[in-house]
Amino acid sequence: MTAAVADAVAAVDYDHFVTELDGSTLPQSSSIASIQRMLEDLDVRPGHRVLEIGTGSGYTAGLLANLVGPSGLVRSVEVFADLVPRAQARLEAAGVTTVTVSNRDGYAGDPVGAPYDRVVAWATPHVIPSSWIDQIARDAVIVAPAKVAELATAHAIVAITVTDGRPRIVAVRSGGYIEMHPEPVTVFGLPLRYVAASHAPDDAEPWWISSLAPREVPGALGLVLDWLRSAPDVSDTPLEAAEELDDFRAWLYATVPAELATAGLSDRFTSIGAANEDGAAFLTDSELVTSDDADAARTLTGWIEEWREAGRPGWSDIPGALVPGVEGWEVRLTLQLAHGG
Ligand SMILES: C[S@@+](CC[C@H](N)C(=O)[O-])C[C@H]1O[C@@H](n2cnc3c(N)ncnc32)[C@H](O)[C@@H]1O
Repeated sequence: MTAAVADAVAAVDYDHFVTELDGSTLPQSSSIASIQRMLEDLDVRPGHRVLEIGTGSGYTAGLLANLVGPSGLVRSVEVFADLVPRAQARLEAAGVTTVTVSNRDGYAGDPVGAPYDRVVAWATPHVIPSSWIDQIARDAVIVAPAKVAELATAHAIVAITVTDGRPRIVAVRSGGYIEMHPEPVTVFGLPLRYVAASHAPDDAEPWWISSLAPREVPGALGLVLDWLRSAPDVSDTPLEAAEELDDFRAWLYATVPAELATAGLSDRFTSIGAANEDGAAFLTDSELVTSDDADAARTLTGWIEEWREAGRPGWSDIPGALVPGVEGWEVRLTLQLAHGG
């Protein structure tokens, strides 16, 4: 950890911000370890102007205020109106005077404080909004979670710099945050975008499948999901102990984003694999979960073999690229850049 981030973490009381009056933890809080990693990439200096997307508890706004010091400023935007006065009150009680919190949709940034030296987001946009690029100063840095494929939970953390108006990814890391949403949401668990079929019982974690594979039979993935819920075939993961599922994920996002599928298998949490109209095969941290179809399992096994042949590249080997889109910049992982520059 850099000395500046370590000093900020030591100076700002996490519990003061995240603890509710009844002693519970605010659901919109982030883990300190993940916050620290992102703040290191952000490299905030005294006097900087910082835009924060997703105030939540106000804890990270407190850290940013500490990092910019008395000569800097922090503008923090939060879509959930109730959290704004809560965060403001906690910041005031902690003696912080350089943060302004407002109830805004972070997709539009906050032009009032522009140009910003740093932009940091704690919720995942489906594209990097053009407004963030438009509102930054020369040599600015943006650190944000981002979608790396049009699949639910296909997230990474990216650091972006802008040269002559053109943004460029300088670091891609594993990680992710809740999806950004233009309206407040209070139900967590079921992804907001890219879900092809789902089942969300009241008393358990939801089931869902996300896949871009073309489907000729309407509702086919719903039937596949029903099969996974009722009669899954569960065996040990085919990955060896030294093989990281997280690195394999990065490889899949880079090489087969259009054929890939992700799934939420209730309490098995998020998994990745292959799905077609007749079945699916998904890897979790320790298991292979399949439905009654050998094709999907064969596809997944083939991807594992290709990954091994390529030397098991992972997050630190696979660069990211920004692709201009209609609403902003799409983030993609690409092996071509690694070879072709
Ligand atoms: C992981 S929490 C932030 C935690 C915060 N960094 C902290 O220290 O407590 C993500 C926050 O982003 C907010 N959010 C989601 N979509 C948003 C949007 N479009 N604009 C602004 N805030 C948004 C959520 O309401 C939530 O409070």
